[in-house]
Amino acid sequence: MKILVTGGAGFIGSALIHELLAGPEFSVINLDKMTYAANPATLVDFENEPRYRFEHTDICDAGAVERIFREHCPDAVMNLAAESHVDRSIDAPDAFLRTNVMGTQTLLDVARRYWTELEGEAHAAFRFHQISTDEVFGDLPPGVAATEDSVYAPGSPYAASKAAADHLTLAWHRTYGLPVVLSNCTNNYGPRQFPEKLIPLMILNAFDGKPLPVYGDGAQVRDWLHVEDHARALVTVLTQGRIGGRYNVSAACEKSNMDVVTSICRFADELTPRPGGTRHNSLIEHVTDRPGHDRRYALDATLIQKELGWSPQVPFEDGLAATVAWYRDNADWWRPVRDGSYGGERLGLAAAT
Ligand SMILES: NC(=O)c1ccc[n+]([C@@H]2O[C@H](COP(=O)([O-])OP(=O)(O)OC[C@H]3O[C@@H](n4cnc5c(N)ncnc54)[C@H](O)[C@@H]3O)[C@@H](O)[C@H]2O)c1
Repeated sequence: MKILVTGGAGFIGSALIHELLAGPEFSVINLDKMTYAANPATLVDFENEPRYRFEHTDICDAGAVERIFREHCPDAVMNLAAESHVDRSIDAPDAFLRTNVMGTQTLLDVARRYWTELEGEAHAAFRFHQISTDEVFGDLPPGVAATEDSVYAPGSPYAASKAAADHLTLAWHRTYGLPVVLSNCTNNYGPRQFPEKLIPLMILNAFDGKPLPVYGDGAQVRDWLHVEDHARALVTVLTQGRIGGRYNVSAACEKSNMDVVTSICRFADELTPRPGGTRHNSLIEHVTDRPGHDRRYALDATLIQKELGWSPQVPFEDGLAATVAWYRDNADWWRPVRDGSYGGERLGLAAAT
């Protein structure tokens, strides 16, 4: 099965490509614009793989996307290409609307034209998989987990753009019959995540002895899933999901941001002790909260577990310890980013200033 993965040079897309290429049944075309969030070092792993092709392209470029469909004839599309950082969406929403909304619409349109011309089994088997987030459901009170039928209530420009893309995907199914599947996942963590996101930012600041900036009181709750569990869920949804089906992906692993940062400090104490034995948690600093910061996200993943048989395999503490160790052992991957395009500076205060 030939899969067109968009955003495969990013964090989740690269984990997905690793998962797809682990067995013999898939080949991959990776379509990526290589924005600041893509790391060329991520692609080195696939360089010598005969079942892998790379297309340096923007999903908003209809002509180029059309050419890629004609040339590679994919059996399915998995759309992960996105602007993905909430703080950047607060500072500059335009790129989020362009890629996440218009880019998804472009892909849907090209995919529809391509699928319409397919015949027989190829037409019947084609899928368009839109990869989305729990953030579309917005801030949830304690004890409530969003199901696939919960109302969308996005709070940030990022979440609003992803919500729009979800609606477009379902509209292309209802209006044109395009065979789509949609999955919404909780916060991911693991190797190769761009160090602007909470976990890698805290890990690298801890290694460098820099302050660990916790937004507000740090009591915001996120539901965490290891990226390899997400990659397995994505393959499951693509290959077994109902056409038009929506699936929540979660390990029901709720943690406050302070809990996460404290755990990172504990693993950093073990793996990279500070000179003089000072604890890493002495670096924690509470800073101005993110404008409009949602307090809590949580997803109910009963449907994917019961209907498709997926379940998470990586316990949070094991996955987090392994992630700290991965960043310790892979400075070649992240050092050029920290010394170049993003050194850890505060983003996303535009609305508050
Ligand atoms: N990270 C999470 O915790 C999380 C959770 C749920 C869902 N998601 C969703 O999963 C997807 C992947 O997230 P991620 O964390 O890997 O993001 P990322 O920022 O690490 O990677 C995004 C990738 O998309 C590429 N890209 C951006 N704009 C593009 C464009 N116009 N054309 C082609 N490529 C483009 C970038 O170059 C990059 O390689 C996103 O759709 C995101 O909304 C992420």
